[in-house]
Amino acid sequence: MSRYPDRVQVYEVGPRDGLQNESAFVPTEDKLALIGALAAAGLPRIEATSFVHPRWIPPLADADRVAAGLPTVEGTLFTALVPNQRGLDRALAAGMREVAVFMSASETHNQRNINKSRDATYTAFEPVFAACAEAGVAVRAYVSTAWGCPYEGDVAPAEVAGVARRLAEMGAYAISLGDTVGLGNPAQTHRVLDAVEAVVPMDRVALHMHDTRGCALANCLVGLERGVTTFDASIAGLGGCPYAPGASGNLATEDLVYMLHGMGIETGVNLDRLVDAGLLAQRLLGRTLPGRALQALAGGRSEGKS
Ligand code: HMG
Ligand code: MG
Repeated sequence: MSRYPDRVQVYEVGPRDGLQNESAFVPTEDKLALIGALAAAGLPRIEATSFVHPRWIPPLADADRVAAGLPTVEGTLFTALVPNQRGLDRALAAGMREVAVFMSASETHNQRNINKSRDATYTAFEPVFAACAEAGVAVRAYVSTAWGCPYEGDVAPAEVAGVARRLAEMGAYAISLGDTVGLGNPAQTHRVLDAVEAVVPMDRVALHMHDTRGCALANCLVGLERGVTTFDASIAGLGGCPYAPGASGNLATEDLVYMLHGMGIETGVNLDRLVDAGLLAQRLLGRTLPGRALQALAGGRSEGKS
């Protein structure tokens, strides 16, 4: 029997985690074009935008318009980040059927990112979970700084597990563990998962790796071996958190899908269409993006033409 799952879910965060970090505002219609290209690649879940305060994240100040313009695509569910009840109200008004809440394993990043202590965050989330249960809206929850904090340094796996357990008990169907500034290595990933698996089953855990130091795929491989079946990634390696100094791009979706397909693991994603989406992202942003499979596969296309 293979030590890897037959199929995994790729959760696309480029339109949210990627575009939240762009200094230039990407026009709403360009965001929607990128989202359409990602959906055409067969991604089952796409985090399309974020209903945070527009002053805190100006690049996503058009969240309501993006949500209103989302297409209906069979097999793709669009989700959005919400930080509080006000964000949820906006998401529900826009018709979102799944949302993601987020908080940090470290106190200082939580405070800087959402202007609350961790305790106050749990309190603020209570009505959010209750309203989602009432409306039949699924909630995913991120635990940021799970591999280390840009302000505090090391974060104990027991802290990560404590936050993960609490959010799962509050009603999150999935817990996405975030390496917010891309500090993690595979041995550490085993330690984080050792702590978390004691409190949340691995089939409810997702890995959300930023690739700042090049270890994202290696950490995902550990996740695969440990029974994780959902992996977050961002088209062309876009991404970062403006309230986490040093955060750079997420693991590139094409790098992840290339590796998974090569290992015989199904994703339902069309890699060729994903390259189209990556090339569109480059055109819209006007620069070469970090995804490595994108450069190799797109390069192969132009070589084929010459
Ligand atoms: P605050 O200033 O403490 O908010 O911000 P407040 O509750 O005191 O309210 C102040 C005013 O803001 C009020 O308006 C509210 O209505 C309004 P007023 O009465 O003064 O007119 N307000 C809002 N307006 C629109 N949408 C809202 C909203 N909430 C309040 N949702 C807040 C607190 C959480 C809103 C703010 O800190 C915030 O928006 N932070 C977002 C930071 C962020 O988005 N960071 C990046 C995403 S996290 C990430 O990238 C990590 C992740 O990828 C995983 C990983 O990598 O680890 C997920
Ligand atoms: Mg992130």
